[in-house]
Formats: sequence, structure tokens, C-alpha cells
Amino acid sequence: MTVKRSSAAGVCWTLLMGCVFAAHAVTFEVTDGNSTCIKADLNASFSITYNTTNGTSAARFALPSAAAEGNGSSCGGAGVPPELLVSFGAGHALTLLFSRDRRLYRVANISLQYNLSDTSTFPQSSSTVLMTVMTNATEISARLNSTYRCVSSSTVSLSAEVNLTFSDVRMEAYMSGANLSTDESVCSADQTVTTAAPTQSPRTTTAPSPVPPPAPERGNYTLTNRNGTACLLALMGLQLNITHRSKSLNQMVSEVVNLQPNRTTASGSCGFTVATLVLTEDLTNLTFTFTLNSTTQKYYLSAVNVSAFWPDMTDRFVEGNGSLNFLQCSVGRSYMCSAEQTLSIVPSFSINTFRLQLQPFNVTASRFSAVEECRVDQENMLIPIIVGVALAGLVLIVLIAYLIGRKRTHAGYQTI
Ligand SMILES: *[C@@H]1O[C@H](CO)[C@@H](O)[C@H](O)[C@H]1NC(C)=O
Ligand SMILES: *[C@@H]1O[C@H](CO)[C@@H](O)[C@H](O)[C@H]1NC(C)=O
Ligand SMILES: *[C@@H]1O[C@H](CO)[C@@H](O)[C@H](O)[C@H]1NC(C)=O
Ligand SMILES: *[C@@H]1O[C@H](CO)[C@@H](O)[C@H](O)[C@H]1NC(C)=O
Ligand SMILES: *[C@@H]1O[C@H](CO)[C@@H](O)[C@H](O)[C@H]1NC(C)=O
Ligand SMILES: *[C@@H]1O[C@H](CO)[C@@H](O)[C@H](O)[C@H]1NC(C)=O
Ligand SMILES: *[C@@H]1O[C@H](CO)[C@@H](O)[C@H](O)[C@H]1NC(C)=O
Ligand SMILES: *[C@@H]1O[C@H](CO)[C@@H](O)[C@H](O)[C@H]1NC(C)=O
Ligand SMILES: *[C@@H]1O[C@H](CO)[C@@H](O)[C@H](O)[C@H]1NC(C)=O
Ligand SMILES: *[C@@H]1O[C@H](CO)[C@@H](O)[C@H](O)[C@H]1NC(C)=O
Ligand SMILES: *[C@@H]1O[C@H](CO)[C@@H](O)[C@H](O)[C@H]1NC(C)=O
Ligand SMILES: *[C@@H]1O[C@H](CO)[C@@H](O)[C@H](O)[C@H]1NC(C)=O
Repeated sequence: MTVKRSSAAGVCWTLLMGCVFAAHAVTFEVTDGNSTCIKADLNASFSITYNTTNGTSAARFALPSAAAEGNGSSCGGAGVPPELLVSFGAGHALTLLFSRDRRLYRVANISLQYNLSDTSTFPQSSSTVLMTVMTNATEISARLNSTYRCVSSSTVSLSAEVNLTFSDVRMEAYMSGANLSTDESVCSADQTVTTAAPTQSPRTTTAPSPVPPPAPERGNYTLTNRNGTACLLALMGLQLNITHRSKSLNQMVSEVVNLQPNRTTASGSCGFTVATLVLTEDLTNLTFTFTLNSTTQKYYLSAVNVSAFWPDMTDRFVEGNGSLNFLQCSVGRSYMCSAEQTLSIVPSFSINTFRLQLQPFNVTASRFSAVEECRVDQENMLIPIIVGVALAGLVLIVLIAYLIGRKRTHAGYQTI
């Protein structure tokens, strides 16, 4: 097991641009033999209050780029979780302990050991002991085989005296390759740019809610006519998956972000053969165009356009496709798909839909008309039916076999 570390600072001098975030990020790599299990690129700063000879004082310092190699790091195995231990300064150490389940991995525990006898960090400290504080209330989690990414800063309280602030984090544990996955789990703080200032109560972490995009919340998007009657109804959870060049990684990444109904406004227009629904979030504009084919008496999603400028994008992402044929449904009906569906718009952009029901034409009384279900839902319904029929058949066969058997034995008795 070895730990390698390197500082991004050197790279920054040569790159000069795009290093605003990476200025103090330090990279760590935990390997076992020649396979890498943890890679972490992070920026950490500490705020520690301690007792001095005449009161209390606060020490604030960042994880130095010269952080020494940790000797307690390990890839774990056989019930032992992987661990990243970073030691720095005069006897200080930061430890991240990981855990995983079938789908996610997370930082299960963060601990900090700090040495109050280090007078350059803790001048006039009245104590010289080695303190250890820890928390297992961390919100850092990501899908397996994806990189946890959180450019925004988040503060974790390790004790009443110690706060730890992470920013510009990119890390992965339980790695399946030697490099960070290009698939990313983006923390929720990064998903909305108007990052809420960390003004929450002291003990709770500002930490983003679980990162692996959970199923998105279901939005209720309705368009109304001039006379105030609803003309387009849509209930759906939307998850956008955009492949773009990451500003901080300088490589292509697939970023998956949920549209938050809360922060989304719906606009657009209803027509007899064309309806558009425009969803606007802080950093994302999304336009759906529905077309009604009066020959076939079917409507369908014919075009999708997106314009997004997310924090880690080098440029505004603008894409669209005007020759789609998704979500086809008979006119006068509403289209429903409870199962997750992926709409591939262009190679670099897809939308995952969840619990979707929509009707862009012929809405009466502001209510959905009779439902036409997507094939996945129909198949999902079919499975229990098939199983039921199969079971009934089996019961019948057993019953017949039993009756025949009984008759035979009866016949046997009679001949004797
Ligand atoms: C790992 O190291 C062993 C020997 O140390 C070598 O045989 C093997 O090819 C290496 N595997 C990889 C993926 O580099
Ligand atoms: C600092 O001093 C106060 C009172 O003097 C004491 O209650 C507290 O435990 C001390 N804190 C530490 C970290 O030693
Ligand atoms: C504690 O004493 C030091 C020097 O003795 C002084 O610089 C510092 O301001 C004092 N702090 C407080 C809180 O009185
Ligand atoms: C994690 O936190 C819970 C509740 O705060 C506590 O009961 C538990 O002992 C902690 N576990 C570890 C390993 O620290
Ligand atoms: C992660 O990747 C490894 C190797 O590619 C694979 O065996 C494993 O099933 C993947 N895990 C998940 C949850 O996708
Ligand atoms: C830790 O953060 C909380 C909330 O932001 C703050 O109230 C507290 O004073 C901080 N403590 C230290 C030691 O910085
Ligand atoms: C959606 O919103 C409309 C009005 O804005 C409301 O009448 C309707 O009940 C809502 N539908 C659901 C499923 O919440
Ligand atoms: C107003 O609503 C009625 C009944 O829903 C509809 O027939 C009519 O076309 C609407 N008027 C306009 C201007 O959209
Ligand atoms: C996002 O898109 C990429 C590239 O098409 C794909 O590999 C990845 O599985 C998608 N992720 C999700 C959660 O849809
Ligand atoms: C957004 O949703 C969250 C929880 O889902 C809720 O706490 C918050 O009040 C909502 N904000 C607005 C502006 O509706
Ligand atoms: C409607 O559908 C028919 C049959 O698929 C097709 O030939 C026709 O071009 C479509 N009309 C429009 C306006 O798209
Ligand atoms: C979304 O559209 C509005 C209005 O056209 C525009 O001001 C904004 O810049 C757009 N946002 C994105 C991310 O493209």
C-alpha cells in the first residue's frame, strides 16, 4: 500500500487559466499493489478554537500542499473499510473512512487529530495534548464507479471546537480503474449555482443531500390559455445527463443533474398541432415541442432543445434535435410512463424521465384524459399477469394429476 500525493499548484503556474478552483487542491492516491482504490483531489481548511493561557483563540489553516504521506491509508478488504489518512504539519492527521453498499459508496467517518503542542499552529495554547475529533454524519456519497464532485464548499462540524470545510473535491473510492471515472456524482450544492451560504445550525453539515442523483422530484408543469383554462399538462421528474468538458478536470465528463421543480418555471404555447413547453431553471433552459399528426391522430415529442451553463462547464452547452419521435400517444389521451425512460436527444445529451404523465393537446376541464401507457409500464403490468396465469395453470395441472391419480387408486381397490 502506498500513498502518493501531488499538488495542483505547480500545474497551475503553467496553466494559469482555469486554476481559480484548483489553487490549493492536493491530490492523494491510495494503492494496493498496483491497483488504485482511492483517489482524492481536495481542498480542506480547518477552523479550530483552543484554550490559550489567557482565553481562547481560533486557528484557521488550510491543508498544506506539502501534506506528508499518510501511513495509515489502506485499501481495506475482508471487512476492513478503505481509508485515506493524510498527515500534515507537526503531528496532525485527517482521516476519511469509506463504506459502500451495492449502489453507493460514502465517506462514513471523518476524523481529525490535531496536536496542540504545535505552537506555530496553536500559539499560546494552554494544553499540549493530541486531540482527536470525529463525525460519522457526513453527506459525502456517490454512485459506485462514479467520481464524487463538489466544487462548492461544505462545512462539517467535527466537534464544537472544530469545523472542517471542503471545497473543490473530486474523489472516488472503490475504484475499478486507475483513473477517476468520467461519470460524476455531483453534490447538490453544485447543482444550483445560487449556492446557499452555509448558514445552517452549527452541528448539521451544510453538506449536500445524497449526491447520486436520487430520482428527481416530480414537477407539475401546466400551461394555460388566455382565458385561464389549462391547455398543456405535464407531471414528471426530469434528470438531465450532459456530456461536456469539465472546467476543473479539463476532460469530458457526464454530469447528471435533476431539474428541481421548485426552482423551475414553465412557459410556452399551446396550438392545434404544435405545442411547446419551456422549462426554465437557474442555469438551464429546456424546450419541448409536441406535434400532432392529424393523419394518424397521434401526437409525439418532436423536438427538444437545451441551453445550460453549469458551474463546471467551460462553455454554455447548447444542443437540440428537431426530428424526434418520442412519447407517442393517441390524440385525446394522456401519455403515461411511470417507469424510468431515457430520451436520447443527441449523443451528448439525454433526459431520464420519471413518473411521467403529460397531455399537450385537447385538455378538457384542466384534467388528464384517459391514459395510454408506455410499453415498459405495460410490460411491468404484464409480468404479474403472466406469473398469475402460470401459477393458475400449475395449480390446475396438479389438481388434474391428483384427481386422475385418485381415480386410478380407486380403480385399483375395486379390482381387488
Ligand atoms: C501488477 O503487478 C504485477 C507484478 O507486480 C504484474 O504482473 C501485473 O501485470 C501488474 N498489473 C497491472 C495491471 O499493471
Ligand atoms: C477550555 O477551557 C474551558 C474552561 O476554562 C474548559 O471548559 C474547556 O474544556 C477547555 N477546552 C479545551 C478544548 O480544553
Ligand atoms: C493573550 O496574551 C497575549 C500576549 O500575552 C496577547 O497578545 C493576546 O492579545 C492576549 N489575548 C487575549 C484574548 O487577551
Ligand atoms: C456514529 O454516530 C452515531 C450517532 O451519532 C453513534 O451512535 C455511533 O456510535 C457512531 N459510530 C461511529 C463508528 O462513530
Ligand atoms: C463497477 O465497475 C466494475 C468494473 O468495471 C464492475 O465489475 C462493477 O459491477 C461496477 N459496479 C457498479 C455498481 O456499476
Ligand atoms: C463552526 O461552524 C458553525 C456554523 O457555521 C459556527 O457557528 C461555529 O462558530 C464554527 N466553529 C468554529 C470553531 O469555527
Ligand atoms: C398541478 O397543479 C394544478 C394547479 O397548478 C393543480 O390543480 C393540480 O391538482 C396539480 N396536480 C398534482 C398532481 O399535484
Ligand atoms: C376558452 O375556453 C374554451 C373552453 O375551454 C375554449 O373553447 C376556447 O377556445 C378558449 N378560448 C381561447 C381564446 O383560448
Ligand atoms: C449519462 O450519459 C452517459 C453517456 O451517454 C452514460 O454513460 C451514463 O450512464 C448516463 N448516466 C445516467 C445516470 O443516465
Ligand atoms: C423547495 O422544496 C423544498 C423541499 O422540497 C422546500 O423545503 C422549499 O420550501 C421549497 N422552496 C420553494 C421556494 O418552494
Ligand atoms: C403523419 O404521419 C404520416 C404517417 O406516418 C406521415 O406520412 C405524414 O408525413 C405525417 N404528417 C406530418 C405532418 O408529419
Ligand atoms: C435561458 O433563457 C433566458 C431567456 O432567454 C436567458 O436569459 C438565459 O441566459 C438562458 N439560460 C441559459 C442557461 O441558457
